[in-house]
Parts: sequence; C-alpha cells; structure tokens
Amino acid sequence: VPLQAHNSFGIVAKARQLVRVRSQEDVRQLLADPQLADRPKFVLGGGSNIVLTGDVKPLVLKVEVMGRAVVEDGPKASIVEVGAGENWHGTVGWTLEQGLPGLENLALIPGTVGGSPVQNIGAYGVELQDRFESLDAIDLVTGKTFTLDAAQCAFGYRDSVFKHVAAQEGDFGLAGRGLILRVRLRLPKPWKPVLGYADLERKMNETGVRAPSAQQIYDWICAVRGAKLPDPRVIGNAGSFFKNPTVTQDQCSDIIAREPGIVHYPMPDGTVKLAAGWLIDACGWKGKSVGNAGVYEKQALVLVNRGGATGGEVVTLARAIQTSVYERFGIRLEPEPVVV
Ligand code: EPU
Repeated sequence: VPLQAHNSFGIVAKARQLVRVRSQEDVRQLLADPQLADRPKFVLGGGSNIVLTGDVKPLVLKVEVMGRAVVEDGPKASIVEVGAGENWHGTVGWTLEQGLPGLENLALIPGTVGGSPVQNIGAYGVELQDRFESLDAIDLVTGKTFTLDAAQCAFGYRDSVFKHVAAQEGDFGLAGRGLILRVRLRLPKPWKPVLGYADLERKMNETGVRAPSAQQIYDWICAVRGAKLPDPRVIGNAGSFFKNPTVTQDQCSDIIAREPGIVHYPMPDGTVKLAAGWLIDACGWKGKSVGNAGVYEKQALVLVNRGGATGGEVVTLARAIQTSVYERFGIRLEPEPVVV
C-alpha cells in the first residue's frame, strides 16, 4: 500500500498491509484475528509528524474514527468529543461555528485530532493540554479500552505518554501500543483571548483592532502561518523539525555574551527557551539542501521535501544541522517528528 499520500512530507514508501480503523469494534475484530493480533503495529493518524525512512513492516492502523459532538455545555466550560480521525483544523473551525471559541490559536495545524495529544500540539501561546479534558484509547496489546485525563497523559512540551516506550513492566509508556479513539476538549467560559505572541501583536497594531473576536484571531493565525509555513499539500514538510531547546539562565548568559542577537524567551520555571529556527538560520542553513531535502526559505526550523526526497535525505540533512548548531552554540537540537 503506497504511503505517499499518508505522510505530509510526501515521502514515497509502502506499507506491507494497512487496515482502516473506523471504530472500537474494528480494533476488537482485528485483535481477535489470529493472523493480525500478534503482528507489530504502527498507528497512523494524519501522518503530519513522521519521517518515513523506508517501507513500514509493521501492520499500519490508519485511524479513521469520526464524529464531533458537544457533550457538555456547563457554566464554566463546554466539552466537545471528537473522533480521533477527524481533521484538527476542520475541528477548530467547527467549534467556532458552534459558538465555542478557545481553539483559535491552534488553527491550521496539520494532522488529526487523535494526533493532537500525542505531541501536545501548540502554537501562539496555547497548547493542547490547556484545552484538554480526557481521551479514550485502546491498548493494542491487551485489547482493553481506557480513559486518560491530562495528568495521566503526562503532557510536556511536544511530548506525552504516547511518545514514550515502556522500558519495563509497570512503566507507563504507550508508544506503539495505545491507539487513541476519541478526544474530549474543554473550552472554558467565559472565553479569554490569548494574545501575547509577537505575531498577534503585530496584527493588532496593523489593523488597529484591540479586542479581536475568536474568529478574528483565527483569521490572523491562518494568515501568519500561511505567510511563513509551507502548505504540506504543496511542499512536503512536518512543521517544525526540532524542538526549541531550553537552557539554564547561566548557559544563556554565556551564549548571549558570544551571540548578542540570539532570540530567547525566559520561562516561568527560570529556564530560558531558545528559538531553534534562529540558531539554524544563524548557521547559514536557510534555503540549503541535501539531495532533495531542504531547509525552508522562510522558516529555518522547517525541513521540506523539494520533490522526491527520501527519508534518508531528510535525516542526513537534520544530522548535518544538529552538528553545525552543536559546533557553534554547544546546543543539541532534538528532532520533533517521529522517525519511522
Ligand atoms: N527565527 C529566525 N530565523 C528563522 C526562523 C525563526 O530568526 O529561520 C526567529 C524568529 O524571528 C522568531 C523566533 O525565531 O524571533 C521564533 O520563530 P517563530 O515565531 O516562527 O516560532 P518557532 O519557535 O520557530 C514555534 C513552534 C511552532 C509554532 C510557533 C508559533 C516549536 C518546535 N515550534 O515555532 O510549531 O507554530 O512557535 O507558536 O515549538 C510545530 O511544532 O510543528 C510548529 C510549527
């Protein structure tokens, strides 16, 4: 089964076998099938955060659980329940149509709703964990369904329990094991806009709009992202390729002494977050390529497929970037997408 259309990098690779999962029942049947039950499995959502470096041998489970509903409309929050296979951006638009703001800062993030908790998607001052109520998943090893709240998901910056493998019995890692079926999102009332980011302040200054509606913020976010991030339908990519690294205040002072222009943000816990895009840009990578894999011209944190790139080329380019950032700044960049 060709996977090119199932990964936003547009890398050419095949799956030996792909099964579409539309319900919990589909998973039950699959696990009851002696031919399939014991095969290693790979859960695929929108494919917007993976780099395929070859054909996928495990059984690919393409999650297509659909449906969206407002399940609670209380005085303090509304809760919506969404099938893991629903498109994330479409879901943000749907909540606004329902008169339920709160997700607008997360507009235009590629991928599915089921993928959103896996890496705790975030943008413009809002992370999924800020709007998360709970999720239902099924354990592909035991066949049991379970519900996790935010604490149990162990959300971190672009991280959750679904990105970790349990090293030993008793560890709570669900990578390759937990298949997310449904996600419940909590949209607090009254709605409060999140406007702290420079890109949004610029929009407010340009337009003179001081108290934007959720729809206005949604439109701004779509415009900002559209201007600096490549549309995966046109240029293959997986969004930011590295996480923004954090350093201690002391390390940061050292680096600033050498590199006064470095873009950095103090964090509430006293550490300092550095803009990985700036570090890569400063090393001269913007617009460069290795084979058909390249560094996007307008945002150095985004690696792109210039046409026909292999996963190997993407990984080689990523390693070369890591090496030069380490040599110049002494900082190790950590990839954000999952290399398969
Ligand atoms: N910068 C440069 N050169 C570049 C790119 C960036 O100097 O080539 C500088 C910018 O001028 C800016 C700073 O770096 O001062 C930060 O750039 P930007 O605002 O574009 O945000 P980012 O830190 O690169 C993060 C997220 C994005 C998210 C935006 C907005 C990560 C890994 N990335 O990017 O998330 O959309 O903030 O909140 O945290 C994603 O995860 O896939 C993603 C796109």
